[in-house]
Amino acid sequence: MERFVMKGGRPLNGEVVIGGAKNASLGVLAAAVMADEPCLIENMPDVRDTNVMLQAIEGIGGKVERIDAHTVKINGAAISKDNTVVDDEFIRKIRASYYLLGALLGKYKKAIVALPGGCDIGSRPIDQHIKGFTALGAKVEIGHGMITAEAERLTGAHIYMDVVSVGATINVMMAAALAEGRTIIENAAKEPHIVDVANFLNSMGANIKGAGTDVIRIRGVEKFHGSTYAIIPDQIEAGTFMTLAAATRGDITVRNVIPKHLEAISAKLNEIGCTIHEYDDAVRVDARERTLKNTQIKTLPYPGFPTDMQPQMAVVMALSEGTSIITESIFENRFRYVDELARMGAKIQVEGNTAIISGISKYTGADMVAPDLRAGAALVIAGLAAEGYSAVENIELIQRGYEHFEEKLQDLGASISLVDSDKEEQKFKLRVV
Ligand code: EPZ
Repeated sequence: MERFVMKGGRPLNGEVVIGGAKNASLGVLAAAVMADEPCLIENMPDVRDTNVMLQAIEGIGGKVERIDAHTVKINGAAISKDNTVVDDEFIRKIRASYYLLGALLGKYKKAIVALPGGCDIGSRPIDQHIKGFTALGAKVEIGHGMITAEAERLTGAHIYMDVVSVGATINVMMAAALAEGRTIIENAAKEPHIVDVANFLNSMGANIKGAGTDVIRIRGVEKFHGSTYAIIPDQIEAGTFMTLAAATRGDITVRNVIPKHLEAISAKLNEIGCTIHEYDDAVRVDARERTLKNTQIKTLPYPGFPTDMQPQMAVVMALSEGTSIITESIFENRFRYVDELARMGAKIQVEGNTAIISGISKYTGADMVAPDLRAGAALVIAGLAAEGYSAVENIELIQRGYEHFEEKLQDLGASISLVDSDKEEQKFKLRVV
């Protein structure tokens, strides 16, 4: 079985170029099928989840032409109204499969999509998506593992989201963009990828205003035209490398980022003792020879501290002086990495949605299993900060969202390798003693 093996314990330094945002690209790729003309999408990350989305688009008759690893041309013209069933063993595993529901419902007024899977980080209801589609006039039914949404016609509505949801905001925004009349989404999520999907929809001819604030106003249009669009940089990939600098007491510059999107992460790292330098499209985290101190974080919708950075930040907090506290307010099952970190000596106690972390001075290498995407990345960071050898299994979860992870780490000086046998692991250990 494939796993990452690494030898940690030394500062990692250098520059890393951040790719396109996975969670933005999943929305953008789904939205691209709404036009009957080609859409050229650039800066798409070449990761498992985006490739599954592209397969699903092909599965319903969309034309997908891969120009290169990060550029794809999508044409939704050949999708027929009678072929709006999205289901295969892969699409069931990704959360963002539900974006095809909003996209196809908007365009064809009918969509049947397998109930979404995704990382096992807690119960992940879709009631707000259903509430939004229903308000637009669709009939939504769930049965036999599928969601069916259908409407004679979609008409604009005033929708108040009871919880701030990234997925529901994007989904309802897509369907409403091709509905008749005016839609207002209140209590909308404000994440950078909401803005990115709205910008892409607008580039195809939609009329969406206010994305990035909590009130989004949409004037429905009849149809979309083709577009060329570049996805924003991945805020979470960037944040992951920023915490790597802190955990290994290194000095890393993340390039091709939008520093504003990273403010919550930069502010926390600065608060605990790292020096942050912000440039136009780069952020440098300098933690060399620093003693980091304790802090508290509470995960919140953007612009709060992102839940997708909580495990990586925990790895840093467990190596900082004093007692730190994390409150996870978005997903209830996002502390499953704690038992794995404990194998390295971390002292973390979880009570409900709170983790109480007593800082230690160093980790000792251990064999670990990634419980989900971000936690998996966090365990790799811990392994690279730890003394001695570590291994992380279940890396296909990490590959859902990180492109060339081990190569980027190697470029920063990490001793890490992807192996798929004990023999290869032994070879790695002999090589890096
Ligand atoms: C998106 O998930 C991301 N996934 C997640 O990233 C991320 O953790 C999450 O947003 C929060 O930022 C994608 O973009 C594909 P939500 P999503 O709807 O849209 C509750 C990663 O690691 N809720 O914003 O599924 C829900 O239970 C992944 O890249 C409802 O109650 O998240 C949660 O508590 C993991 N009813 C909160 O809202 C609903 O109908 C936020 O969820 C929808 C959500």
